[in-house]
Amino acid sequence: RIAAHLNPPNFELRREECRAKGGAPGFKVAILGAAGGIGQSLALLMKMNPLVSVLHLYDVVNSPGVTADISHMDTTAVVMFFLQVKEGENITMLNLLYECMHGLTLSYYCGVFIFQVRGFLGQPQLEAALTGMDLVVIPAGVPRKPGMTRDDLFNINAGIVRTLCEGVAKCCPNAVVNLISNPVNSTVPIAAEVFKKAGTYNPKRLLGVTTLDVTRANTFVGEVLGLDPKMVDVPVVGGHAGVTILPLLSQVKPPCSFTPEETEYLTKRIQDGGTEVVQAKAGAGSATLSMAYAAAKFADACLRGLKGDAGVVECAFVASEVTELPFFASKVRLGRAGAEEVYQLGPLNEYERIGLEKAKKELAESIQKGTNFIKK
Ligand code: NAD
Ligand code: LMR
Repeated sequence: RIAAHLNPPNFELRREECRAKGGAPGFKVAILGAAGGIGQSLALLMKMNPLVSVLHLYDVVNSPGVTADISHMDTTAVVMFFLQVKEGENITMLNLLYECMHGLTLSYYCGVFIFQVRGFLGQPQLEAALTGMDLVVIPAGVPRKPGMTRDDLFNINAGIVRTLCEGVAKCCPNAVVNLISNPVNSTVPIAAEVFKKAGTYNPKRLLGVTTLDVTRANTFVGEVLGLDPKMVDVPVVGGHAGVTILPLLSQVKPPCSFTPEETEYLTKRIQDGGTEVVQAKAGAGSATLSMAYAAAKFADACLRGLKGDAGVVECAFVASEVTELPFFASKVRLGRAGAEEVYQLGPLNEYERIGLEKAKKELAESIQKGTNFIKK
């Protein structure tokens, strides 16, 4: 019975209708830098996310191959119900099932939205890749080699992020942007300035991805406490480079205490987690697999927020009034508007207060450098 009503006309329109009524949202997601180390694994994970129905894979090289490959995964056909509801009529999913079971005259369409993966190659296709997107995830840019800091990537990655964000401002100014490209402490301010210049800046929709710092912190703390890392929640605040990565070990859940030696060991290990991977890869790049996992987790949280789920909270580097700095990473509540609420840091111990001062000093310089790149 349902099959008879498959694929009604004006499918795009009906998708919006369905979404407005709280049905399967079928979000459109673009990954910029999709053929890279992070991009490929992230594309795979996003293809497995039931909240996504359209995935655009953009890169300056190799995106057609990655797209062909990913598109053969038989994951997720989003089933959508399009109710023909009269003004003021309130039809719930229960009504719908009842009608279905009792063979009543059906006043809705059902559509099975087949997941679409599309590839886009090179600058001329950037606008097509971005048009209509709900979420844009950006892992484009060069990674570190041993001996480099994240700031050493600035000269190349700043220009890449500028170009991509100009595209976002033009083609999907309301999209939520997840910025992964390093140095995040500077690329987020760059993106903000690009959006301001274009008149599209919405601070709630621009988020620097710091989730990997949190997954590392949960893992390392879990090891020390002998706990499943999934049970552990460590807030990591500040930014995403060296001393700007500030784990708040006094606020770990479940509540626990650490010796000064454990605190020193864990803080350093979390701050140096990226360098640990860069050195182990010995010139072949930086974290890609754990980063794709972290990026997919964060993107999923953003999509759940956009869908209207309550209580979605993650750490992210966002426009902030938590400190005197214009950007800062802390816990944020994700909702339909993006980062709807930025949480205060909560009580810090003496060790964390000293760490916070060091973090702010370095962050201030990195933020200024990013801002100046566009302003001057
Ligand atoms: P990679 O070199 O494997 O992939 C980068 C991809 O970006 C490549 O496919 C490249 O072709 C593409 N690219 C380059 N210029 C582009 C442009 N103008 N438009 C679109 N795509 C472009 O690197 P990776 O390991 O995937 O890392 C990517 C970035 O993510 C690096 O800057 C790295 O430092 C950063 N990173 C951030 C975090 C974090 O926690 N935020 C974690 C890991 C890596
Ligand atoms: C990370 O934390 O792994 C990334 O920022 C990549 C890097 O250069 O360390």
